[in-house]
Amino acid sequence: MRKIVIEGGRELSGTIKISGAKNSAVALIPAAILSDEEVTIYNVPNISDRDALIDIIKLLEGEAKLDDDCLRLNMKNIKNKVIPEELSKKLRASYYFMGALLGKYKKVEMYFPGGCNIGARPINLHLKGFEMLGAKVTIDCDKYTIEAEELKGARIYLDFASVGATINLMLAAVKAKGTTIISNAAREAEIVNIATFLNNMGAKITGAGTSEIKITGVEHLGKAIIEVIPDRIEAGTYIIMGALLGKDLAIDGVIKEHVDALLSKLSDIGVKYEIRNNIITINRCAEMNPINVKTLVFPGFPTDLGQPMSVLLTQCNGTSLFEETIWENRMGHTTHLNNMGANIKVSGSNAVIIGPTKLTGTDVTATDLRAGAAMVVAGLIAEGETRIADIEHILRGYENIIEKLQNVGAKIEIKEI
Ligand code: EPZ
Repeated sequence: MRKIVIEGGRELSGTIKISGAKNSAVALIPAAILSDEEVTIYNVPNISDRDALIDIIKLLEGEAKLDDDCLRLNMKNIKNKVIPEELSKKLRASYYFMGALLGKYKKVEMYFPGGCNIGARPINLHLKGFEMLGAKVTIDCDKYTIEAEELKGARIYLDFASVGATINLMLAAVKAKGTTIISNAAREAEIVNIATFLNNMGAKITGAGTSEIKITGVEHLGKAIIEVIPDRIEAGTYIIMGALLGKDLAIDGVIKEHVDALLSKLSDIGVKYEIRNNIITINRCAEMNPINVKTLVFPGFPTDLGQPMSVLLTQCNGTSLFEETIWENRMGHTTHLNNMGANIKVSGSNAVIIGPTKLTGTDVTATDLRAGAAMVVAGLIAEGETRIADIEHILRGYENIIEKLQNVGAKIEIKEI
């Protein structure tokens, strides 16, 4: 089995360049379906989720040319085929083909998406929105058929500001007749990136990044270029490592507004950093105050940084409280942290973390993507060797994580064990 093996305790110094955002790229690629001409996406991260989406594009007979981080997609000859179960289930973001194919062909047939096991992950809000646009949804076991005679603009209120539902409904509504308003829309930075891409193709979307998005349907979408925004979660993960092990560790390519919630918490803890021209330079903080962290929708503290952050809390002096409010099942990593020596008591979605505790390397598992990132953070600060199993979760979402960390002084490698 391939494992990530880390010899902990090394100082991290130098520069880590942040890649394009996974959660933007995985929506931009399916969104390209809506264009009748070639589109170009720059700064696409080299992660396995990218490849899984390109496999779906190729199955649909779209053209995909990858040149380093530049992805050119041409959907001129695309066919609206059923997306088989094994491809739908490879990742969560396959569900963006629902909105994109429905928007373009008024019909899509695919299976329930896959993704990390962090909760029930229903898609009822997506489906309800499609129905409000005039589609009929038929579910046969895990197979979804969504079709419409005509898609008509509607006023859609989301019960929860879901990232996926907001993006999927934008995709389905861009070519619908009339105007769609999405209220209580998610405001994550990735949504603005997708709306900009669609507008570059010729769509008429306003309000992305606020909780009310207005989409006026257009008939044709054409050639467009977009750059994937920097990955705020990847940046946040390395910033957390910097607070624990940094010696002038520079994280390059950070949009400050995207990581404000994290920086505010780090200031409360006592961590010092400097920001200049999208570069955050951060140093290890020897004496850290305990704090409370509650995950929230953007611009609150991101759920995707909760697990890495909980490792930092094990090193604070005193009792920290950590509450996860978005997903039901994001505490699995704490068992592994406790096996390494942490003192974490979990009750439902709440954790009481008492620190500081010395962590010692052992065999651990990446139970999901961000739990895996948390294990890497833990391994880097632990004494001795940490061996992480199920590393495919980590490689799905962090481009070149091994090389990036080796370049700043970490002793980390992938080994066949
Ligand atoms: C996106 O998932 C991200 N994934 C997640 O990142 C991230 O944790 C999440 O947004 C929140 O920021 C991708 O972008 C591919 P949601 P998504 O719809 O869109 C409930 C990572 O580690 N809900 O905003 O699936 C849902 O159960 C991943 O990179 C419904 O009830 O998240 C959850 O409690 C993990 N019904 C909450 O809303 C629905 O129809 C937020 O989900 C949809 C969602």
